[in-house]
Amino acid sequence: MALQPHQSNLPPTIEWRDDTLYLLDQTRLPLETVVEATDSVEAVWRAIHELRVRGAPAIGVAAAYGLCVAMRPERQASRDAFFARLEQHAAYLDSARPTAVNLHWALERMLAHARGASARTGAELYDALVEEARRIHREDVELCAKIGEHGRALIEAGGGVLTHCNAGALATTGIGTATAPLYCAHREGVPFRVYADETRPLLQGARLTAYELQQGGLDVTLITDSMAPALMAQGLIDLVIVGTDRVAANGDVANKIGTLGVAIAAKHFGIPFYVACPSSTLDLRTARGADIVIEERGADEVAQLAGRRTAPEGMKVRNPAFDVTPHALVTGIVTELGIVRAPFEANLAALFAKGAAA
Ligand code: MRU
Repeated sequence: MALQPHQSNLPPTIEWRDDTLYLLDQTRLPLETVVEATDSVEAVWRAIHELRVRGAPAIGVAAAYGLCVAMRPERQASRDAFFARLEQHAAYLDSARPTAVNLHWALERMLAHARGASARTGAELYDALVEEARRIHREDVELCAKIGEHGRALIEAGGGVLTHCNAGALATTGIGTATAPLYCAHREGVPFRVYADETRPLLQGARLTAYELQQGGLDVTLITDSMAPALMAQGLIDLVIVGTDRVAANGDVANKIGTLGVAIAAKHFGIPFYVACPSSTLDLRTARGADIVIEERGADEVAQLAGRRTAPEGMKVRNPAFDVTPHALVTGIVTELGIVRAPFEANLAALFAKGAAA
C-alpha cells in the first residue's frame, strides 16, 4: 500500500502485511532505515514505549494492529476466552505511554468493534479486529489529507513557518498533521521556508522533521530550541504550527516539551500559533490541560548526549516529555473538519456534534 506518496524513498511508518505488523524504527533515523517485524504484544508495547513508533496518530494505529498481533495466537479460543484475553492485552498496550490519547482511543475503538461484531468464534473475532485496525489506518491517511486541505490557506507565499518536534508523516501514516498544510502548499508550488526546532532531548525535530521535509523537497532549516524566539524577533517566522498528543475540552493542548515556550514567544511577537490534529486527539472527557497525565521519562535522556554522559554523576534530573499550552495562547486548532477557534470549549463540543471521531 503506497500510503506516503510524497516520500517514496521512505518506507511506511507502519505496515500490516501477511498478518504481520512492520514498524519503521524511528530511533535509528535518519542514519539508518530499518523496518522490523513486530511479532508479539510485548514487542509492540516496547516499540511504543521506546519511541520506535511515536507521534500520537501513529501510536494509535500501531496499538490497533498491536491488538491483532496479541490476538493472533488466540484464534482457536472460545468467544468468552477470546474477550478475556482481548481486554487484558488492550489494558497492557494502553500502559505503554500515558499522554497521547490516540493510544487509548484506538484500543477503545477496537474493543467496541469486537463487542459489536456478530462474529462467534475466535477466528472470526480476529478477522473483525484486523478489519477495524485496517480501517483506523486508512482513516488516518485520509484525516491527514483533510487537515492539509483546511490548513493549506495558513501558508503564505514567501513566509516562514516554525514547527516543534515531529508531527509529520513519520508521526502518522499519512502526510502528518502539522506538516500536512506544508506538504499541500509545497505541492501547489507555494514558496515558503520551514524552521524545525531540534527538540531536546530526543531530537525528533532534527532527526525526523528536518529529515522528512528535506526528503520531500521543502526548504527547511534546522535550529536549536532556544533559537526560536530570536528568529521571531528577526521577523523570520510568520506562523507556528505544531501537533498535539491530547487536546482538553477547554482547548488546552499537550504537546512535546518546549511547545509552551514557543507559544509564549509567538504570543509576545504577535505570531499566530496553530495546532493540527485529527479529532481523535480531542479528549472532551478531560476538562483542562492540568488534568492531562504528562509522561516523565528516564534521566539518561537529559543527562547524556548521543550515549555519552554530559551531566555530573548523581545530578538530579527532570524529564517531562510533554507540556501543556493554555488555550489562551492558541490561535486555532486545525482538524479534518475545519479550523476550530475560540471560544474553544463551545466550538470543540460543536465539532463533536458535527461528527468528529468520538
Ligand atoms: O514523544 P513523541 O515523539 O511521541 O512526541 C510526539 C509529539 O509531541 C507530536 O507533536 C504529537 O504526538 C503529534 S504527532 C502528529
